[in-house]
Amino acid sequence: MRLAKSLLIASAISGLISTSSFANADLVAKGEKIFKTKKLGNCVACHAVNGKADIDAMGPGSFGPKLSGLSYWDDKTLYDTVYDVYAARGIKVSPMPAFGRNGWLDDAEIKAVVAYLKTIN
Ligand code: HEC
Repeated sequence: MRLAKSLLIASAISGLISTSSFANADLVAKGEKIFKTKKLGNCVACHAVNGKADIDAMGPGSFGPKLSGLSYWDDKTLYDTVYDVYAARGIKVSPMPAFGRNGWLDDAEIKAVVAYLKTIN
């Protein structure tokens, strides 16, 4: 009886965990697609990403810094950087477009990109 009860609790917990990590994996996949797709974010045109061989194969440009350590950044800083790098950094000139302010990526798309950026160590 006691075993049955703890099994029940264990499966309830693992159900919760797998549901939330599944949703998160979906968001990361969506963000990664935006990052790599020319007509969407096309971030790979300017940014190389650490440890992502498929991006290396696509030949990222070198207009922007190689992205690394973004998993340590907080969500808001990442969001603001993608939304409008000029406002986020107080700079006037940058090759990086203000994706949110220009209306190229909407709120949900930027959030997906941020979820992907958070996977970059
Ligand atoms: C045309 C080139 C270009 C494109 C396209 C571009 N970026 Fe950038 N990005 C830059 C440059 C240059 C910087 C450095 C900011 C500056 O100008 O001071 C930068 C900075 C960043 C930073 C801060 C990195 C750091 O270590 O300081 C992040 C995060 C970032 N970009 C994400 C993205 C994402 C996500 C996309 C796609 C939605 C994207 N970039 C598209 C050129 C680009």
